[in-house]
Amino acid sequence: MAQLALHGGPKVKRKPFGTGRRFGLEEIKELAEALEQNTLFYTKGKKVQQFCEAFAARYGVRHCIATTSGTASIHVALGAAGVGVGDEVITSPITDQGTLIGILYQNAVPKFADLDLDTYNLTAEYIEAQITPRTKAILVVHLAGNPCDMAPIMDLARQHGLAVIEDCAQSYLCEYRGQLAGTIGDLGAFSLNDFKHISAGDAGMVITDDDELADRCALYADKAYDRTGQMRHVHFLAPNYRMCELHGAVALAQLKKLDWICQRRHEIGDYLTARVSDLPGIHPPKVLEGCKSTYWFWMMRLDEEVLGVSRQEYVQALNAEGIPASAGYISEPVYNVPLFTRKNAYPNFPCPFECPVYRERGGEVEYGLGLCPNAEEILRTCVRLPCSEFWTDEDVEELITAIRKVTEYYWERK
Ligand SMILES: Cc1ncc(COP(=O)(O)O)c(C=O)c1O
Repeated sequence: MAQLALHGGPKVKRKPFGTGRRFGLEEIKELAEALEQNTLFYTKGKKVQQFCEAFAARYGVRHCIATTSGTASIHVALGAAGVGVGDEVITSPITDQGTLIGILYQNAVPKFADLDLDTYNLTAEYIEAQITPRTKAILVVHLAGNPCDMAPIMDLARQHGLAVIEDCAQSYLCEYRGQLAGTIGDLGAFSLNDFKHISAGDAGMVITDDDELADRCALYADKAYDRTGQMRHVHFLAPNYRMCELHGAVALAQLKKLDWICQRRHEIGDYLTARVSDLPGIHPPKVLEGCKSTYWFWMMRLDEEVLGVSRQEYVQALNAEGIPASAGYISEPVYNVPLFTRKNAYPNFPCPFECPVYRERGGEVEYGLGLCPNAEEILRTCVRLPCSEFWTDEDVEELITAIRKVTEYYWERK
């Protein structure tokens, strides 16, 4: 049995992980050009427009609408899909708050469907259990670069006349049976925040093939202001989520790196999974057959009983070997925070959860632990590793060696 670094043995990873610069002369050149235009407004300059055209082309869709964030993109998509007061939107309990903000601002009610224990994604079966006459849309989250099983979800949505929005904030260029995630539902929403595969600091975009939805997205992202030439206000409520030329310029340069980044992450993640899959007591992330994950992170589940070790100690042992693993992802399912459990999205008003319109439609909702047992189990048992396109092959080998060393140690000790 190899002695763990945690117990004073030699550490597996002694050389630092490979790093690299995300931004360089390409971004500087685009930014300089943007400033030289003497305007940073998206309809007057060229950068946002060029970026949207290039992103739409890469995804093979007709339209890309630029926004200020992933949160904004989802809000725009929901608005365009007609989600409004008293509607329900079915979504995932393991996600970023940004998935939920737009639902609540539309005064609609999030309903949480449970997840598959191995992919950590929504399934048609769990979504179906949440459908009511008030359901307006399904907002799937492709978690950590891994696509949901979209074919049955699309069948279900069509059967019930529901809009499907794909939250691709963590899932650039991930593929579901030959189709890019984001192009399968009615609308795909992306984030360019600084932690994502590519970054513009903050920004986002929505893609769609549907001309009418695209028009509505454009209005929803720009105060319902019609920029098609007539320059008139349209009379419905919409926020200002306009991307400016500086963000467009950086995004344009970043887009050129996207394929390389996603391919490298895909290779690292799949290789890691293949090399630790035989180990007892751990469940590597499952990617569905014919699908491609681009690993925003790599997350496995630990069986504490099988290995006879707590998750905390297992992660400490990995950390001692020089591996930046963490115990858990978000600390609890998104529905178990006071905003939901105490229904206080808006100060002093229980809307949208007890909105009279929602009530009149027969809506009633309660949140709290127990709602989605699989999601809770995933969060209780998961061990997360970052993934970086800058890692060398040696980094990945050492990572595997460390996982094998620690796992085998506890397995043999037991
Ligand atoms: C799944 C998911 N959805 C939405 C968002 C929101 O994106 P942004 O931070 O750009 O608003 C994030 C960001 O972390 C995310 O991970």
